Amino acid sequence: MSPERYDYLVIGSGLAGLTFALHAQEHGSVCVLTKAELFESNTSYAQGGIAAAVGESDSWELHEEDTLIAGAGLCNPDAVRFLVQQAPRAIEWLISIGAQFDQAVGPDTLRQLDLGREGGHSRHRIVHHADRTGWEIERAVTAAVRACDRITFYENAFATELLLDQGECRGAVARIGELGWRSFVARAVFLATGGCGRAYQHTTNPRIATGDGIALADAIGAQICHMEFMQFHPTTLSHPQLRNFLITEATRGEGAILRNHLGTRFMYDYDDRLELAPRDVVARAIDAEIKRLGTWCVYLDMTHLSPRQIQHDFPTICQQLEKVDIQPHKDWIPVVPAQHYSCGGLVTDLNGQTSVPGLWAAGEVACTGVHGANRLASNSLLEALVFAEAASRAVTARPSIDARASAVAPRWIDPPCVSESDAIRIRRSLQLSMTEGAGIVRTHAGLRATQQKVQSLLDEYAAHAGAPFSTYSRETYNLLVTAQYVVQGAIDRQQNVGLHYNTDLDSSAARLRVGRGSDESR
Ligand code: FAD
Ligand code: SIN
Repeated sequence: MSPERYDYLVIGSGLAGLTFALHAQEHGSVCVLTKAELFESNTSYAQGGIAAAVGESDSWELHEEDTLIAGAGLCNPDAVRFLVQQAPRAIEWLISIGAQFDQAVGPDTLRQLDLGREGGHSRHRIVHHADRTGWEIERAVTAAVRACDRITFYENAFATELLLDQGECRGAVARIGELGWRSFVARAVFLATGGCGRAYQHTTNPRIATGDGIALADAIGAQICHMEFMQFHPTTLSHPQLRNFLITEATRGEGAILRNHLGTRFMYDYDDRLELAPRDVVARAIDAEIKRLGTWCVYLDMTHLSPRQIQHDFPTICQQLEKVDIQPHKDWIPVVPAQHYSCGGLVTDLNGQTSVPGLWAAGEVACTGVHGANRLASNSLLEALVFAEAASRAVTARPSIDARASAVAPRWIDPPCVSESDAIRIRRSLQLSMTEGAGIVRTHAGLRATQQKVQSLLDEYAAHAGAPFSTYSRETYNLLVTAQYVVQGAIDRQQNVGLHYNTDLDSSAARLRVGRGSDESR
């Protein structure tokens, strides 16, 4: 297998991968590998928006404070400061490449953006494009990449291995649709493979979110941390025909309220920030309320908002709800929490450098430390943008290494796979076990049982391996490796903090926190 050679190799075509590619191509050739279509990513499903302190009554200091509060003491303060200070510039860059955001009035300038509000934010600071912000951003970055001669991209290119040369990451192996196996060598590899929601039964994440980056990095010994901080979004649709569809937090920012089936606004019993408390608090409150009352779901009530406003602000949600005969201006929307975001990942510094020389990472696969124990809403797209750009600056400033000198050999050409039916069975079993044992509320016994189950599924995978290559099978293996990190992290975390809540630990630290009130009216 003679390798293709580029200056920079990017794995993943969400916001982090394509932001890196667009900046790095100014300094050399770039190749992007992406396992589905270029557009397919968590990014393109993002609804609410991107947080940036661009409003008149806002400041990076307030954004910083809100991020640190949500992170429950485990954020890296330097990373947070860098994130919030870079936010306005990052939004300007997106606008400069053609992304359009909703305007309050007038032309497309930062000062005139229509800013939404979400849980944990003390100000209106969510830059958005109705309820399809991610779609608009991904549209802009994919269009820019397609227009750029110096970026080569392969779709249906599933990366299966990172290549090491004398301890440095120098490339990757991928299985590319009809082309088959290919290897790539580069001066630096940028990993941007997103999250791992498919480890759970119910997730907002699309099919690509299978923890591939975690497993690829694990195989070459990269440091991975904070995987126990798995974020569950409080409000996803509870309907048999449209399960897991996200109802953006921006609805609560616009005044939607949560009720139980008796009509009680139960957030009064849990937190004085009510529906706009940070996500871990609201998700746990809903979980507790459902268990307390023995119901399937709670309800999001926006019937007091004007039908025109609902249609204008949330067109995608209205369109989807129509399919299941729910009219949000008349009906309460049945909602349940579902897995949404992985706060942990590959440990990186502020330049996206991982613990393995030559390997860089940003976006959901990385752990820069900005989210701590719980991510503040709409800080994820921002993190992908800011740290991918920082990584591109750091990588391209390095002295040039001759990639041609590298002699890198793949570990295997055909990685072990199981049959489709075995993979389906193993994956379902994993999802059930993770949901029961490593979900919103955990126990010692549940975590230990889940750990044993994951190990037994890995053994089963090894015992049944020998089938022809299939992406689905390798993704299932990657989910198992990722799940090991989540469960081990949760077992090791001996204090309830942020998203990690184990009822067997002293719950005083994790009690549904009563926070400060906002200085804006609710
Ligand atoms: P992604 O956008 O997930 O991209 C990962 C890429 O890697 C994909 O192209 C994938 O195909 C590719 N890939 C994965 N594995 C491989 C492999 N083995 N080989 C090759 N390619 C691979 N965040 C916000 O800040 N604001 C929001 O409003 C918001 N809303 C959200 C709504 C939903 C429904 C979801 C699911 C998430 C939302 N998030 C939001 C979170 C945010 O969208 C993601 O965290 C963010 O987009 C991650 O970007 P990324 O570039 O790191 O990864
Ligand atoms: C949402 O729109 O509620 C999701 C926002 C996020 O994940 O940051």
